[in-house]
Amino acid sequence: MKKIAPSILSADFSRLGEEILAVEDAGVDLIHVDVMDGHFVPNITIGPPVVASIKKTARVPLDVHLMIDDPDKYIQSFADAGSDIITVHAEATVHLHRTVHLIRKLGAKAGVALNPATPLANIEQVIGDIDLLLIMTVNPGFGGQKFIESMLPKIREARDMIDGASPDVLLEVDGGITLQNIGVAEEAGVDIFVAGSSIFLNGDYRQTIRKMRAILGN
Ligand code: DX5
Ligand code: ZN
Repeated sequence: MKKIAPSILSADFSRLGEEILAVEDAGVDLIHVDVMDGHFVPNITIGPPVVASIKKTARVPLDVHLMIDDPDKYIQSFADAGSDIITVHAEATVHLHRTVHLIRKLGAKAGVALNPATPLANIEQVIGDIDLLLIMTVNPGFGGQKFIESMLPKIREARDMIDGASPDVLLEVDGGITLQNIGVAEEAGVDIFVAGSSIFLNGDYRQTIRKMRAILGN
């Protein structure tokens, strides 16, 4: 079953609990939490205390996307805060194998994200050690950017790599996902669709999510 993961980056942070309840009521599968450090990406968002607060109200699993340098330093804090999936960037850690095993050891599912310019080959040697592969379809740092169409062949290639080497790995896309392109991403083999601005900045969350589900066929 295909999953929808709203990114709270575009939610109203002064009413975060209500925003999360609203998308949960509309029937989403995960809450995507974007963590930015002002170094790995040119923007700063939230840290472990906010994740811990969200965990108290959220009824669906938390999909925590770390856009931070040297993630090993903070994985324990994000695991303690209640992250169900912790995704690190392959570009942000030198010893990726060690990092993903640290995440699993702390009881979370381990994800690895690749920036648009990073080849899939960079994670080939750890595909059997991860639970989720995130293909970025924008350069990370901001919500509301345009989906980079040339990522579609990379998504298809990722689907083939997963099917051949480690079929339980979930394939996620993040960045610029809208009602206009969610269908092509689905056809390319994506399992989890992150969407921020197209859900939270479009008024009726329930209607957008229902339309996305209709396109995904579930
Ligand atoms: C980008 C973030 C994404 C993004 C999603 O740095 O990781 O989660 O904000 O937002 P939209 O769907 O607006 O691109
Ligand atoms: Zn994200």
